[in-house]
Amino acid sequence: MPKKTPDELLALAAETARNAYAPYSKFHVGSALETEDGTVFSGCNVENASYGLTICGERNAIFQMIASGQKKIAQIAVVAGGDTPPYPCGACRQVINEFADPDCPVYVAPTNHIDRYETMTLSELLPKSFKL
Ligand code: THU
Repeated sequence: MPKKTPDELLALAAETARNAYAPYSKFHVGSALETEDGTVFSGCNVENASYGLTICGERNAIFQMIASGQKKIAQIAVVAGGDTPPYPCGACRQVINEFADPDCPVYVAPTNHIDRYETMTLSELLPKSFKL
C-alpha cells in the first residue's frame, strides 16, 4: 500500500531536482515515485553535450525502480523550475504507462511553489494509450 502523501513525494522530487545535471537547458527536473509496497525512488534529468542522449527525471526515477527489481508505480511526482507545472513529456508519459495503472496519480509542481501542485491521473495525461 502506498503511504506517502503528495507533499512528501513532491518534497523528495524537489530535493532530487537539486542534483539535476542540466548545464545546457538549465531546467532542473526531479521526480519521485512510490511503488505499491511503499518503496520510494527518485531521479533527476541528466543532460549530455550530445543533446539527444539526455534522460528525463521521470524516466531516471522509473529506471531506478526497475534496477531495484520493482515494476509497479502507485503514484509519481514531478517538480521542475519555472512558474508552470512541469507536465511530463510524451516519452515519459509512455514509460510511466508501461509501469502504472490508468488511474495512477501524477503530481506536478513548480520547484518554487510545490504547495501549488496539480494532481492528474495517468489516463488524463495519456488517453487511449498504446500497450501490447
Ligand atoms: N525534461 C525532463 O526531465 N522531463 C520531462 O518530462 C521533460 C523534459 C528535461 C529534459 C531536459 O534536460 C530539460 O528537461 C529540458 O528539456
